[in-house]
Amino acid sequence: MRLATPPGFATEVFLLEAPDGDLLPDGAWTLVGDLRLRDAWIRAGMPEPSHALWVSVPEEEKKLRTVIPWLEHWAGVPLHRDATVVALGGGVLSDLTGLAASLYLRGVAWQVWPTTLLAMADAALGGKTGADLAAGKNLVGAFHPPRRLVACTSFLDGLPPRHLENGRWELIKTALIQGEMDWAAEMLQDGPVKLPWVERALAFKAGVVHRDPREAGERRLLNLGHTLGHALEAASGYHLLHGEAIGLGLLGACLLAEEQGLKPFPASLLDPLVRRLAPLAPWVAPWPACLPLLARDKKARHGAGPTGEASATEIHCILPRPGEPAVQRVLAPQAWETPHARLLSLLHPEIVRA
Ligand code: GLY
Repeated sequence: MRLATPPGFATEVFLLEAPDGDLLPDGAWTLVGDLRLRDAWIRAGMPEPSHALWVSVPEEEKKLRTVIPWLEHWAGVPLHRDATVVALGGGVLSDLTGLAASLYLRGVAWQVWPTTLLAMADAALGGKTGADLAAGKNLVGAFHPPRRLVACTSFLDGLPPRHLENGRWELIKTALIQGEMDWAAEMLQDGPVKLPWVERALAFKAGVVHRDPREAGERRLLNLGHTLGHALEAASGYHLLHGEAIGLGLLGACLLAEEQGLKPFPASLLDPLVRRLAPLAPWVAPWPACLPLLARDKKARHGAGPTGEASATEIHCILPRPGEPAVQRVLAPQAWETPHARLLSLLHPEIVRA
């Protein structure tokens, strides 16, 4: 099924059960694929270009140094300017492959075939490519939209349940950005992730990134849950998966919004949110470990304080509201201290009481 996207949208979006070779590029192409998916790709009758790269890239190797051998390989083939690169894998692989495609010959076309729910629901759409620097995640990259996104749900069958559940949080984020409490509550219930949810999330994101491709305004809303989430993810030493950290960040953002005087959230949303997140409580780092990471947020602004004293940091925060779209506020990182404490007490009341 081809999803409806805004007129002129850079990426054609397909949501399928099984891979379809007709959606591969028409002309010359090559592949960068996750090695773990090679058998599934071949079993599905998909072609393997002779210069394919089957790679295994752990999260900690999301670095520029990982793509340099790929670029050298393409130059050695040689891959020409009119060729298309196909990325088959999760967010780390697709972010790096898109980055390599943006760099090779100053930019060649690429397609993304996301194989994790997290990548299908968020990472693969919108043209953000990137790698990590020692100073932080995704600090280098380019906006280079893929020509085509092909999400095949059969690839999800091989995912461990924890990794599948990880992607659910980006879907719940989409509902909270729009203030859609009923949709969020439905996705918080037990039961499998449903395809129409992915479809709805992709359609929403396509609209946002089409209106604001460079994240100058509206696209920032897609960072809901990511401010505290990124800090918790890093402070857990990456024990928390990205989606899990975003789930915690979503609860934190609801509590921050209430703290900032916005409309309180109904128990019908907060209770299932807390119930789903409670098993992650042991990995929620204490506040002193989070504060420096919040202040180093990629979107932080550093400037002189009101009396010209050393720098004062402000971070862009996205605050959800029940029944209405989320709003953006620039706040000091310290604004998260009380929501962080409330989050801990909700998730782990016995530890806080002890
Ligand atoms: N993952 C947020 C964005 O694509 O802007």
